[in-house]
Amino acid sequence: MKVNGTPMRTIWLNDDGWSVDIIDQTIFPFSFETLTLRNVSDCARAIAQMYVRGAPLIGATAGYGMALAMREDATDAGLSHAYDTLLSTRPTAINLKWALDRFNTVLAPLAPDGRMRRAYREATLLCDEDVAVNSAIGNHGLALIESIAKTKAPGEAINILTHCNAGWLATVDWGTATAPIYKAHDKGVNVHVWVDETRPRNQGNSLTAWELGQHGVPHHVIVDNAGGHLMQHGRVDLVLTGTDRTSANGDVCNKIGTYLKALAARDNDIPFYVALPSSTIDFSLHDGIANIPIEERCGTEVSHVLGRTEDGIVQRMQLTPDGSPLANPAFDVTPARLVTGLITERGIAKASTNALAALFPMRAGNTA
Ligand code: MRU
Repeated sequence: MKVNGTPMRTIWLNDDGWSVDIIDQTIFPFSFETLTLRNVSDCARAIAQMYVRGAPLIGATAGYGMALAMREDATDAGLSHAYDTLLSTRPTAINLKWALDRFNTVLAPLAPDGRMRRAYREATLLCDEDVAVNSAIGNHGLALIESIAKTKAPGEAINILTHCNAGWLATVDWGTATAPIYKAHDKGVNVHVWVDETRPRNQGNSLTAWELGQHGVPHHVIVDNAGGHLMQHGRVDLVLTGTDRTSANGDVCNKIGTYLKALAARDNDIPFYVALPSSTIDFSLHDGIANIPIEERCGTEVSHVLGRTEDGIVQRMQLTPDGSPLANPAFDVTPARLVTGLITERGIAKASTNALAALFPMRAGNTA
């Protein structure tokens, strides 16, 4: 997608040919800066401290982390240390383990002196695949949006509510939930997006609103609690989110608050779709509610927000009383029964074990 008119990805090889550049997502929307990652520890820190975030981009960063690790120590011990270091960064997004397993499978059989070159090639492949997969998700989602457009008066906007940032900043490019939106907008379909602010880290109002604005997609930022009201009054046609891990039966784990949107959508007969690459499906879990690990993050994300004063100073502000105990579960799980459909790179599936297995038969074999 474009930043000030220039096409960009979220992660790329530096001009030096070996280090890796990323966009610093901790300072949005007040600054746009890039950072250079030079070793596996840099990559692990970037993921854990959310300089990069979003399930597919976490996977891509882990891939480059394996390549950087192989520059320094391509022995079996180096490979397993890099795998463990990167895997321990964040627990919920399955794309992290998916990417690390992919690199392990490719690198482990090789002699150490062949691993570095192969790891860089795999990282490039993974990123290019991510772009292609998200573009395919966009095409399938576009067909869905166009079918909704047919139910509206000519020229009337299709109102799509989204939660968190499942945009191009969460992937290598296109985004998952945003890919259909960008494709619809580019095709001249009149789409308008309700952007949930997404407390506590505000990925909606700092990232999604920024990228929709860069691409010229009409949108309004709303507080997280506004969605139910808008749905009740006919002002939402479609809820479209991403996911960090979806179990084999179609339970969808996504940013905290997604479940409430799904409940409100069901109560108001509004379709609730989830856009995801197959790398986000965890076929080893037959039940997401019981089995997906939910990341508990630091309470200061709840008690403090990053903002800009009227004088233009960017600073962190406390919201809660001194000493108030804080809890910060970062994700929730929407049961499959509330999900209208899953938009994947192979098409739209029902959120069910059979439908997912039919779409991805090679991967579905090892469900527990
Ligand atoms: O904690 P984050 O910002 O990494 O969470 C991201 C999300 O929940 C996204 O909705 C999800 O990764 C969808 S992926 C495009």
